[in-house]
Amino acid sequence: MENSLKYLILSTSPRIGGNSDTAARYVETLLKAKGDGVFINTFHKKINPCFGCNLCSRDGRCVQKDDLTEIYELLPQINFLVMASPIYAMGLCAQAKAIIDRLQPYWAQKYVLKQAEMLQKRRKGLYLLTAGTNFNNVFTGAEITLRYLSNVLEVEEFKIVGFKNLEEKGEIQKDPGNFNRILEALKQMGVL
Ligand SMILES: Cc1cc2nc3c(=O)[nH]c(=O)nc-3n(C[C@H](O)[C@H](O)[C@H](O)COP(=O)(O)O)c2cc1C
Repeated sequence: MENSLKYLILSTSPRIGGNSDTAARYVETLLKAKGDGVFINTFHKKINPCFGCNLCSRDGRCVQKDDLTEIYELLPQINFLVMASPIYAMGLCAQAKAIIDRLQPYWAQKYVLKQAEMLQKRRKGLYLLTAGTNFNNVFTGAEITLRYLSNVLEVEEFKIVGFKNLEEKGEIQKDPGNFNRILEALKQMGVL
């Protein structure tokens, strides 16, 4: 990457050490040698859903004071975002969706207030999804939301790496090809 790598990895599954969390941890081992970053298991955090008060359209800030404050502070600083989520009910898991809903202050900054906090930096992103089935459209719902997230956070280039047929905890480790797909995605984006 042009600038030094500053990353944030959000691992959102409640199943710590599960498939998406393992994928996220693997990314962390690769990125650690390349830059500075933070890994957060969001299940350990208290992150409320968006209350829909729309007060962020006034000043681009969220009125809620919970553990998302830490993530709000990190997001403008990073140039590489990783989000890992299991597929629940054909979409992102609730924790991942709650975080994305709570990005509304950045949406307000961009589209209502025309402020530049997020716009100042261009970002890349890697999104890791794990599903129990091999349904053709199993990632479609999540992909739409992740495209929205990328727009709001100025993630200009992103890759979605989805893994199907991973039902049990840790199944992702059975096939080394799964980790190669992550490695390849990072190389293709010029992160490694
Ligand atoms: C509440 C719940 C809903 C799920 N919904 C789906 C689904 O709609 N489609 C699917 O393919 N797998 C579904 N699964 C299976 C998970 O996506 C799968 O086990 C995945 O590997 C979990 O990732 P994790 O280990 O990172 O938590 C669901 C699992 C749970 C617990």
